[in-house]
Amino acid sequence: MCGIVGYVGKDKCVSKIIHGLEALEYRGYDSAGIAIFNKGKVDTFKEQGRIENLKKRIDLEAESHLGIGHTRWATHGEANKINAHPHTQGKFTIVHNGIIENYIELKQDLLKNGYVFLSETDTEVMAALLDFVYKEEKDVLKTIQKSCKMIRGSFALGILFHDNEDTLYATRLSSPLIVASGEEGNFIASDVPAILEFTNKYYLLDDLDIAVLKNESVTIYNQYNEVLKKELLTFEGNMEAGQKQGFEHFMLKEIHEQDNVFYETIHSYFDGSIDSLKQNFPDLSNFKKIDIVACGSAYHTGLVAKSLIEEYAVMPVNVEVASEYRYKQSFYDNNTLVILVSQSGETADTLAALRKAKTDGITTLAIVNVVGSSIAREADHVIYIKAGIEIAVATTKAYLAQLAIFSLLTIYFAYQRKLLKDEQINKIYEDIKKMPNLIRQIVDNQEYFMIGDKVFQHQNIFFIGRDIDYALSMEGSLKLKEISYINSVAYQAGELKHGTISLIEEDTPVIALSTKDELREKTISNIKEVKARGAKVIYVTTEMPKEKFYDEIILIPRVHPILQSILVIIPLQLISYKVAKNKDCDIDKPRNLAKSVTVE
Ligand code: F6R
Repeated sequence: MCGIVGYVGKDKCVSKIIHGLEALEYRGYDSAGIAIFNKGKVDTFKEQGRIENLKKRIDLEAESHLGIGHTRWATHGEANKINAHPHTQGKFTIVHNGIIENYIELKQDLLKNGYVFLSETDTEVMAALLDFVYKEEKDVLKTIQKSCKMIRGSFALGILFHDNEDTLYATRLSSPLIVASGEEGNFIASDVPAILEFTNKYYLLDDLDIAVLKNESVTIYNQYNEVLKKELLTFEGNMEAGQKQGFEHFMLKEIHEQDNVFYETIHSYFDGSIDSLKQNFPDLSNFKKIDIVACGSAYHTGLVAKSLIEEYAVMPVNVEVASEYRYKQSFYDNNTLVILVSQSGETADTLAALRKAKTDGITTLAIVNVVGSSIAREADHVIYIKAGIEIAVATTKAYLAQLAIFSLLTIYFAYQRKLLKDEQINKIYEDIKKMPNLIRQIVDNQEYFMIGDKVFQHQNIFFIGRDIDYALSMEGSLKLKEISYINSVAYQAGELKHGTISLIEEDTPVIALSTKDELREKTISNIKEVKARGAKVIYVTTEMPKEKFYDEIILIPRVHPILQSILVIIPLQLISYKVAKNKDCDIDKPRNLAKSVTVE
């Protein structure tokens, strides 16, 4: 949700900032802009649309060594050039990620004080506020501190103060921002990929910290003006994560990484023995109820987890979308564990749900990909998935890794409640060992692309299933609609006849999932109901049926049910990919979306 990059150092800044923005373009791609110090003044360049447009219109070799850049996902005001960042008011030019909730009140006061606004953005109001406060404080640090306390909302800010040509300022509250340091100079960025070309050393900023970056130094202050001694962290991943490595899209590359991601995620915590889980996971033996809270695909992994944990550990699991959960009455007690699931670890609603649970004194466990992200830092416990950097806006490998962690948590809870024995765990582990190969076979199977070819011209596509297959249908459907823009609905197979079946017409594709043996006959009856109304059925199952009630079949190798979903989702990812490719959609950057949703 908007990408910020800033650089100060001995090298020229423009190409470095543009490079960083390109690496962050997955965070937003409505417009882009850059502001640089040039011969004592600040020059700003902005363009609507992709960074490519901006790149064509600026001098990459401009004689400047300090600047800030931004790629936008519009919140306040249309995605046009005027609303694009950076924004300038008086002596301040800024880039911003987040939302300033009280910007209208602030704007009214600032208008009375003679400020004139060109854009519709909350960011320009923030720039004016800084300028206004500075007139009184006459000190940049104090100005930033005071202004940040006057605003409600979330922000990561890169700030140029026009009188300090050698200094870049940055601060944050509930929006991600790192400060990186390398031989080539110092950087600010919304996320690690922006700086990996230049350095893998970075500092994390806590809420309301202020970083002051110069050519040769980085000083970080807390909100009380005290200098902090921060640990310089090293990013363990590699540069290749940010490159397509011969794949046409990041999404396809990331689908192909899933065998390794599964292996790394599982083996970071589990060697087949329950002792390894006891050692690597927090002690969760006291909890009797679970709330899983997340957004989008991460929420869908919670639905899969509900089915598994309720069946194998016989514990009640309540799964909720974070944007609803945060404003609702909660019925948890001291025996409830709240699990937050988030790839980015920065999703605003999930973070707010975490804070709500913490305020209520409830223990929280985060399942997160991005190390050091806000959710990871604030939760009582964290389990990292090992997906590596995920660039495609539509998640695939992080979703699969979240499922892998939930498989382990199911085993862990079930064992603690004496519902799984060592022999059964050994059997599951035998299947775990086979999984990377099975994942690879599915990922390499070209037949799923043919199904994509058969359905891509349709306007409506249905996914149906029962129980865990319904949870997977939800993800299959989301994947398809977000990247191919085809209207798609996931429905509980048995519920369809209570209304929605009226949408089924001759040739409507219905992707029907049936991997749960106990429910297969029931699902097959529901499939026959849609087939009788003309649907073209793509049947996804683990068992070859004796009769032919489908048009296409996807037969998935059978593994222990605790692991099965991990295999079932992959063909759905591949079908969506192929549909979007046939429709010539922008697969890695679907319209209206951004990777990390740091606004409410
Ligand atoms: C869909 C997708 C989104 C995210 C959701 C939560 O492909 O990626 O639905 O799953 O925005 O994001 P995180 O996991 O970062 O909290």
